[in-house]
Amino acid sequence: MEKKTCYIFFCLVSFAVCTEVYGVQRPGEAPLDRDRVKLFVFGDSYADTGNLPSSTTSSWKEPYGITFPGKPSGRFSDGRVLTDYIASFLGIRSPVPYEWKKMEEKWIKNGMNFAHGGTGVFNTLVDQPNMTAQINLFQQLIQKNVYTNSSSIALVSLAGNDYGTYFAKNGSAEGMEAFTKSVVDQLVLNLKRIHGVGVQKVAVTGIVPFGCLPKITSSTSYKQCSETGNNLAKFHNQLLQQNLRRLNNETGASSVFIFLDLYHAFSSALKLKQDHPGNSTFKNGLKPCCLGSCGSVDETGTKKYVVCENPKQSFFWDSIHPSDHGWRAVYSAFKHSLHSLL
Ligand SMILES: *[C@@H]1O[C@H](CO)[C@@H](O)[C@H](O)[C@H]1NC(C)=O
Ligand SMILES: *[C@@H]1O[C@H](CO)[C@@H](O)[C@H](O)[C@H]1NC(C)=O
Ligand SMILES: *[C@@H]1O[C@H](CO)[C@@H](O)[C@H](O)[C@H]1NC(C)=O
Ligand SMILES: *[C@@H]1O[C@H](CO)[C@@H](O)[C@H](O)[C@H]1NC(C)=O
Ligand SMILES: *[C@@H]1O[C@H](CO)[C@@H](O)[C@H](O)[C@H]1NC(C)=O
Repeated sequence: MEKKTCYIFFCLVSFAVCTEVYGVQRPGEAPLDRDRVKLFVFGDSYADTGNLPSSTTSSWKEPYGITFPGKPSGRFSDGRVLTDYIASFLGIRSPVPYEWKKMEEKWIKNGMNFAHGGTGVFNTLVDQPNMTAQINLFQQLIQKNVYTNSSSIALVSLAGNDYGTYFAKNGSAEGMEAFTKSVVDQLVLNLKRIHGVGVQKVAVTGIVPFGCLPKITSSTSYKQCSETGNNLAKFHNQLLQQNLRRLNNETGASSVFIFLDLYHAFSSALKLKQDHPGNSTFKNGLKPCCLGSCGSVDETGTKKYVVCENPKQSFFWDSIHPSDHGWRAVYSAFKHSLHSLL
C-alpha cells in the first residue's frame, strides 16, 4: 500500500462543513433551493471524502484529518478537500461517499460522492472504479429512482492519476502528447454522458501544476517547480478548455460545462513566479507539512513521518495533496467561476 499511496494523486469527511459560505446567492435572483440542489462528485483523491476502504489507505490513518474533523476521515488532507469547499459554496453538506452505502433520504439528499482516491479517466495503478465505472454507479441509482434529475450539479476532478500512471509505466514523457489527447477525448465523452443522464451543470477541474507537487520538488529541496511537469498540465488544460467551449456551443447553453482552473488557483495561492514560489501567505512554500511516509508506522509503531507545527503555514499537506488551508486558498482563487453553477 505504501507504493500505492504514492500514486494516489488526489483524495476526504463529509460532515457539516457548510459554515463559511452559507448563503451565497445571485444578486436579484431567488436563493438556491438547498433542499433540492444535489452535488454528484466524480474524481480522485482531490475530491474523495471517504470512499477508499479504511484498511488499505493512509487517508484513514493519523495524522490525516488532524485539523478537521480532528481524526482521520478518509480524506487525503489534514482537513477538508475540494469537494467540501464546493459543497459549502452551494450551501449544502458535503455529499455522502457512495461506499458508505447509506441510502436513506437524510444521507443522500445533498447528492453523492463517487470519487475514489487514486483513480483516473482510464484505469490506473489502484484497483478502484475509473471515471466510467463511477458514472455507471450514478446511472444505476437514477435507474432505481434513488435520484431524479432536478437541480443537480456535478463536480469532476480526474486525469492527474492518468499521467502519474503513464510516467510510472513508461518511465518518461515520450508520447505524452498523443496520450493527453486520448485522456481529454475520453474525459469529454464522459462529461457528455453525465450531462446526458440529466445533470444540469458540470464543473470540471483543470490539472494542477504537477511540476510543483512536493513529490517532484523534493529533489530541489522544495525550491523549484519542474517546468516539464507544468507544461504537461498546461497542455491538458488548454485541450480541455477548447473542448468545453465546443460542448457548450453544441448544447446551445453557454455555461453547462464549467472549467475550474486549478492550475491558476494553485499558482496564485503559492504566488508562483516563474516556477518559484514568491512571497506566498504560506510560510513553508512548496514544502509539505507532513514529511516522509505520511500515515505509516513501522513494526514497532514508530512513525515514518514528521508533521509540521502549524499546518496552516503549509499549502501542501503531503507529497501530493494540499492542506485544509491550501484548499481554502485555492477555493478563494476560483470561487468567482463557481457563480455560473447557481
Ligand atoms: C474502466 O474500468 C473498466 C473495468 O476495469 C474497464 O473495463 C474499462 O475499459 C475502463 N474504462 C476506460 C475508459 O478505461
Ligand atoms: C510509452 O512511450 C512510447 C513512446 O516512447 C509510446 O509509443 C507508448 O504508447 C507509451 N506507452 C504507453 C503505455 O502509453
Ligand atoms: C432526466 O434527463 C434526461 C435527459 O435530459 C431525460 O431524458 C429524462 O427524462 C429526465 N428524467 C427525469 C425524471 O426528469
Ligand atoms: C456555436 O458556434 C457557431 C459557429 O462558430 C456559431 O455560429 C453559433 O452562434 C455558436 N452557438 C452558440 C450557442 O454559441
Ligand atoms: C518577499 O517580501 C520581502 C518583504 O516584503 C522582500 O524583502 C522579499 O524580497 C520578497 N521576496 C520575494 C521572493 O519576492
